[in-house]
Amino acid sequence: MVVMIEVIDPWGSCLVEDYACVVRDFGLEQFRASAFPKPNRIMRRGVVFAGRDLQRIAECIKNKKPFYALTGIMPSSEKIHLGTRLVVDNLKYFQEHGAKTFILVADLEAAAARGVPVAEARKRALEFHIPAYLALGLDYRKTAFYFQSENTTVIKLAFEASQKITLAEFKAAYGSAEPGRIMSAVTQIGDILYPQAEKPLPGIIPVGIDQEPHIRLTRDYLNSIKSSKRFVQVSSIYHKFTPSLDGSLKMSKSKPESCIELPEDPKVACKKIQRALTGARDTLEEHKRLGAIIEKDMVFELLKQHLVEDDNELKEIHDEYKSGRMSAGEIKQIACEKMTAFLKDFDAKLEDSRSLVKDLQFVS
Ligand code: TRP
Repeated sequence: MVVMIEVIDPWGSCLVEDYACVVRDFGLEQFRASAFPKPNRIMRRGVVFAGRDLQRIAECIKNKKPFYALTGIMPSSEKIHLGTRLVVDNLKYFQEHGAKTFILVADLEAAAARGVPVAEARKRALEFHIPAYLALGLDYRKTAFYFQSENTTVIKLAFEASQKITLAEFKAAYGSAEPGRIMSAVTQIGDILYPQAEKPLPGIIPVGIDQEPHIRLTRDYLNSIKSSKRFVQVSSIYHKFTPSLDGSLKMSKSKPESCIELPEDPKVACKKIQRALTGARDTLEEHKRLGAIIEKDMVFELLKQHLVEDDNELKEIHDEYKSGRMSAGEIKQIACEKMTAFLKDFDAKLEDSRSLVKDLQFVS
């Protein structure tokens, strides 16, 4: 059965059941890894599934023309979901392919939409989120950071945008129109355009599909002021959610027992993997005969999205498991070992990155 939601709500926890449907309903472009040089792990595997105006960015990369990549940190909790790493993977890809890279801390949005005081959001970002993003592979020397609350250029761009957006447009994009959310959304437009404040520049915004309404609003705004030629239309790139280990589609804080967070004690992570929903058959005999149903298997999904970098290695695991030669116990063991190594490496890098915070470039 295909369940589709009418409006993707960036502040809710709506699930996306069918990504093909999302592509169609929102008029997105299907992502083609072959259009990009040296696609990363999640691009090659269809975890990155869609975008907008991707060709413009592929050409910037090919022709070595300047462009930017920008995303935002939402410090609404003191940890991040493993799935957040997918945003960083894409940001890192564009950084390595020449993008001027920006990361903002959405402290105003955290206050307006999530009830986190601005000072608390700032503290969390400096102590954890920014170091975590660096630990996941960004180059701090090539990344510019800012806080929404300190960036007057962003605020000015947001006010300009607010004059062109109607309440009806807002309701169509978000399903509702609460003042705090309107403020957050126009601020996000300011963020997305900030690298173009002085001159037009192609740019790409890597985000989860829940952020699509913000992208659409920004692009509609830019279409409405097209004649000014002040901005290049922005591109975006979307990845699927990392599913909860119980099989629901998005890792959720309301289900800590089946959601891997960063940081996380490897023992706890392995316990969660042990309890994960798999596509193994009811009995070992049946499993050997029929093999696993890979599409239903959350452990394989974890390996595919996060834990196995090498395509050949992944294919080998896939083939063994699908044929029934590998059992659920065995694939869980592999996932646990790889997860343990990943989490330990993350912890070590997080410590190193914390000492870098004082050397970061903050812009405004
Ligand atoms: N709304 C985003 C979130 O909830 C954070 C964010 C703010 C953002 N401004 C942005 C993301 C600009 C991408 C681009 O996570």
